[in-house]
Amino acid sequence: MKETGRKVFSLSRRELLRLGKAFFLLSGISLVYPIDRYISWDLQSRSLLAVTKKDFVLNSEWKPIQGSRVWLRQGEDGPEGLLATCTHLGCEVKYQAGEWICPCHGSRFGEDGRLLHGPAGGPLRRLKVEETPDRYRVETSAHG
Ligand code: FES
Repeated sequence: MKETGRKVFSLSRRELLRLGKAFFLLSGISLVYPIDRYISWDLQSRSLLAVTKKDFVLNSEWKPIQGSRVWLRQGEDGPEGLLATCTHLGCEVKYQAGEWICPCHGSRFGEDGRLLHGPAGGPLRRLKVEETPDRYRVETSAHG
């Protein structure tokens, strides 16, 4: 028999099955990994902060939850939450005499978090507060 000099690419049935398995395995990983990362990120970003009413008595003045930038107060329609993070570059704002002041570049916010003076481009972030019979639960996620 005469050889033509060209090698034809051929796989046995077993090799083809192995290649198919590897393809499906890699395809599965490439699909599952990003979905898993998204779900993990989403769960992490939906963090909750809770304080007991017994230890954290609310009134109409803003009061910080220790160890966080979350402040709470009793509003007219229920508990209110605010994140004391400047919307310019993220410095922690300080509450003084009814105003939030950023020590980094001087942005100022009203007592309800509205922007009074830049360079920040928007108000402080208000947080959703859920009141249960014995505690306040604050959603601190990036989704608001
Ligand atoms: S970080 Fe607050 S003004 Fe820049």
